[in-house]
Amino acid sequence: MEVLGIVGAGIMGSDLAMFFAESGYRVILNDRDAYRLAAAREKIHDRLTGYERKGRLDAMRMAELESHVETRENLETFSEADIVIECVTEDLGIKKEVFVELDRICRPGVILASNTSSKSITAIAAATKRPESVIGLHFMNPVRAMRLVEIICGLATTRETFETVKQIVKKAGKEYVESRDYPGFIANRILMPMINEAIFALYEGAGTVEAIDKVMKLGMNQPMGPLELADMVGLDIVLAILDELYKGFGDTKYRPCPLLKKYVAAGYQGRKSGRGFYTY
Ligand SMILES: NC(=O)c1ccc[n+]([C@@H]2O[C@H](COP(=O)([O-])OP(=O)(O)OC[C@H]3O[C@@H](n4cnc5c(N)ncnc54)[C@H](O)[C@@H]3O)[C@@H](O)[C@H]2O)c1
Repeated sequence: MEVLGIVGAGIMGSDLAMFFAESGYRVILNDRDAYRLAAAREKIHDRLTGYERKGRLDAMRMAELESHVETRENLETFSEADIVIECVTEDLGIKKEVFVELDRICRPGVILASNTSSKSITAIAAATKRPESVIGLHFMNPVRAMRLVEIICGLATTRETFETVKQIVKKAGKEYVESRDYPGFIANRILMPMINEAIFALYEGAGTVEAIDKVMKLGMNQPMGPLELADMVGLDIVLAILDELYKGFGDTKYRPCPLLKKYVAAGYQGRKSGRGFYTY
């Protein structure tokens, strides 16, 4: 059984752990925060219990899947990993530190992927001595429901690395696109300016939170309103991505709305903190 290491047990790491356990991997899930690890275990347990109740899996399969996700506070066990996906906070400095550690611990040749939404894969890869084996694997939230994965090669990533992850993505039942290594890749370069504009509309009093989301849902047939979506993604993540677009392209069209900055400064991170544009 192949071993997949996941660093960061937040929204994406915990979702990916369950997704890859279902896809037949043994998963080692790491977080530096014991509380986040325990919360991830609970989330996985609750989700699987829900599937069992709906008859989508039986008790034996549920126990098997749970046993295929190990949680670890220590990264050293990643020496067993055949591939790693990093899912830590959207901060280049933190990501580079994690990649330096992974490069030291993981066997030579093991592919180190980042689930970053916007940061430079080339810069992350340059923190390691194996830039040819570093790649972006941008899964969408929620992982199970979203069909697409963006695959992003850094400057030194080899085609062999690309082909290997492409097969992993396809085997796991997802579609992929190859995006170039520029801030926000394709997905967030398009999505985030729309979310930011919705926040500006709120900030400038064009409408209420509910009105803005209703326009986009009922008027544009989007499944979720942009403010609701921002809360689901995490307002800290939305701000980090906009900052990256703003700095990376040097273009004021990506300037994050002051209201978004204020919410993040107040600790309003959306669903995960219980408060964002909505209260949970
Ligand atoms: N939230 C989304 O909708 C979404 C979608 C696609 C991609 N992403 C990307 O996935 C990554 C994670 O996002 P998230 O929403 O899951 O964030 P999150 O805030 O929910 O989780 C991040 C986790 O990383 C952990 N962490 C931070 N530094 C660490 C370290 N040095 N070692 C181990 N763990 C560490 C934190 O304790 C936290 O549990 C980001 O790069 C983000 O841009 C997010």
